[in-house]
Amino acid sequence: KKPELIDPFARSIKYVRLSVTDRCDFRCVYCMSEDMRFLPRNRVLTLEELVRLGQIFANLGVETFRLTGGEPLIRRDIPWLVEQLAKSGEVVMTTNGSRLDKLAAPLKQAGLSRLNISLDTLNDKQFHELTRTGHLKDVLNGIDAAQSAGFSIKLNVVMMKGRNDDQILPLVEFATARGLDISFIEEMPLGVIDEHSRQLAFMSSADVRQVIQTHFDLQPSTHHTSGPSRYWQIAQPQNPHASRVGFISPHSHNFCGDCNRVRVTSEGRLLLCLGNEEGTDLMPLLRGGDDDEVIASRIKTALLMKPEKHHFDLNNEPQIVRFMNMTGG
Ligand code: GTP
Ligand code: 5AD
Ligand code: SF4
Repeated sequence: KKPELIDPFARSIKYVRLSVTDRCDFRCVYCMSEDMRFLPRNRVLTLEELVRLGQIFANLGVETFRLTGGEPLIRRDIPWLVEQLAKSGEVVMTTNGSRLDKLAAPLKQAGLSRLNISLDTLNDKQFHELTRTGHLKDVLNGIDAAQSAGFSIKLNVVMMKGRNDDQILPLVEFATARGLDISFIEEMPLGVIDEHSRQLAFMSSADVRQVIQTHFDLQPSTHHTSGPSRYWQIAQPQNPHASRVGFISPHSHNFCGDCNRVRVTSEGRLLLCLGNEEGTDLMPLLRGGDDDEVIASRIKTALLMKPEKHHFDLNNEPQIVRFMNMTGG
């Protein structure tokens, strides 16, 4: 019988998100503070430690690894990591896209199977306001390179009223014209940010859908990934490449009942839920000479602490002081 990680709520864990660095070349306002301090390098998992963790998780029944950051592509030798992890399972990635121009082809070659790319606006000025240090052109070039390399791509849009809500239709048009899937995300209150009020900027998935429906014929779709997104389909002829539109609604529609995932932070902490602090530190075991069985058994024990769901409350922040860049979402 195949081994399986099952939590106390009978959810089977088949998917691990690995944050390969807390650093990033952008400073997105919903993810980091402007003066963010980063971990010293010796506290970050090495690529070899990540490969080893991948093998241990695969032996426990995990099938998919999503590499996140910070920004995974600012870490050196990521194609090597992908190649090694691909021996243990499917490898996918979430990136800001700024380095894909150079890295898309090597990543494809290394066996990366899918890419999620963050893109909150197609407006240069807004892009700079939201990322603080990013350039839209780099990301657009990155998307081109990723498409040329043959990747199927999902765009991620974090919705913020008054910041990028005028971009809903342009982004859907961009996605459908190019055959990309696109997900609209309700902003989650992780870390204390100072540039906008998350409460005032909140825009529900239902509101976003209404805007899309003013110009597109949206139909519910049966498409389902193992992730939190709920998908809709735009009817023909407006959607020549059959792009899907997804909604990730941590506030308006809880999806934790289907949760299939855990995370490892860049400093080697196994986190059982994005919206809670339950977890266990794997770094002392990795660096302390413990063998794989000990680490596997620590993971199994930790899973007993996996919370049933997140409890985000925009009226009562902060509940989670950890910033998004520690887990990459
Ligand atoms: P799949 O691997 O296809 O499931 O992609 P995904 O959409 O889950 O991953 P991605 O990295 O693109 O994340 C998109 C958004 O979903 C981000 O805002 C993540 O923080 C959020 N997200 C992903 N998994 C979870 C989860 O388990 N809980 C919560 N609350 N949010 C999640
Ligand atoms: N709320 C929701 N999504 C977020 N992301 C980053 N910070 C937040 C937040 N506070 C998204 C990014 C990226 C994904 C990994 O998580 O846009 O696409
Ligand atoms: Fe970087 Fe991603 Fe955070 Fe933006 S959301 S600052 S791209 S890690």
